Amino acid sequence: MARALLAPPTTVRLAIEDDLPAIVEIYNQGVEDGVASCDLSGTDAEGKREWFAAHDDPYAIWVAEHEGLVVGWIALSPYDTKPCFAKTGTLSTYVRRGRRRLGAATALREHLIAEARRRGFHTLISRIWSTNEASIALSRKFGWRQVGHMKEIVCKDGEFVDCVFFQLEL
Ligand SMILES: CC(C)(COP(=O)(O)OP(=O)(O)OC[C@H]1O[C@@H](n2cnc3c(N)ncnc32)[C@H](O)[C@@H]1OP(=O)(O)O)[C@@H](O)C(=O)NCCC(=O)NCCS
Repeated sequence: MARALLAPPTTVRLAIEDDLPAIVEIYNQGVEDGVASCDLSGTDAEGKREWFAAHDDPYAIWVAEHEGLVVGWIALSPYDTKPCFAKTGTLSTYVRRGRRRLGAATALREHLIAEARRRGFHTLISRIWSTNEASIALSRKFGWRQVGHMKEIVCKDGEFVDCVFFQLEL
């Protein structure tokens, strides 16, 4: 059976600073879910202001909006700050609880890939906890290739977790 997508469709636009409270609220839900974020505890808008400001061109943050509510966001970020990695980007995607599995991440990721091409990136890398089935499935759906698997590089609540690396050549 086809799954129900958000109707009217989700729109994707560049994030503005006023979106920070919603971005942080959604991010903190991801931290609580414990399968995604490298932060071990939540943050607030103040704690994300520097991160937000660092995403100037060619990097960016976009939000998905549905009927006036920010339902998710995606960030195109530096993979590494050394100049030789300038054409390689990485990304983070977070969707509001209760609004997942409705196509928001799909809309965000399609937008990010098109923008990364337009902005001259050559490749994108995604580092995902091996326990994050949703994010792994999302990457595969978009044709990303698994290129690495690192053992027990995450330590959360005393447990070690593997990370898998996915790559998309643009
Ligand atoms: C991962 C996440 C961003 C997916 O967002 P979403 O809006 O629910 O994703 P979509 O509805 O666009 O689904 C796209 C695809 O992702 C995969 N997917 C999404 N949720 C899934 C789940 N719970 N289990 C398995 N696959 C899943 C599927 O392939 C899906 O395509 P399909 O529905 O056609 O099968 C969301 O679950 C989330 O915010 N999780 C917490 C934060 C997080 O893990 N971020 C990623 C950090 S690496």
